[in-house]
Amino acid sequence: MTQSILFVCLGNICRSPSAEGVVRHMARALGQGDDLRLDSAGTANWHAGKPPYGPMQEAAQARGYDLSDLRARRARPEDFHRFDLILAMDAENLENLQAIRPADATARLQLFTDYAPERGADHVPDPYYTRDFDGTLDLIEACAKGLLADL
Ligand code: 4NP
Repeated sequence: MTQSILFVCLGNICRSPSAEGVVRHMARALGQGDDLRLDSAGTANWHAGKPPYGPMQEAAQARGYDLSDLRARRARPEDFHRFDLILAMDAENLENLQAIRPADATARLQLFTDYAPERGADHVPDPYYTRDFDGTLDLIEACAKGLLADL
């Protein structure tokens, strides 16, 4: 059965497009790619229509993840009916998603870091501010592995 997952951060140009690209790449390598529908969105609309942030794309590309086709969009209430699972990158994203969540939402809403408890992280740090693009990718890869193992 096809499962659908939406990754959400603030701007949709660093963390959530990276999570989408990493999970897509790993799922294909595991032969699970056809069973998954993936997308990403931001709680803010600042970068709508834009590709992922240049330094983020470069760090991802260095690990074999091509993010160039992705375009930012804002998370919408309808997403709670269009996806099975919505994964927020931090507590602020989670709170902003809860604020637009329809009462009859069918999607489950969780933190992405729930899938890598061994890392002891309660959020994915925002490399737009930390500038640690590789540290963020390390954590995203760990969460992606845990997520795919759980599907
Ligand atoms: P993201 O990072 O939420 O991981 O996409 C950000 C990107 C841009 C901004 C904030 C966070 N910004 O303020 O423009």
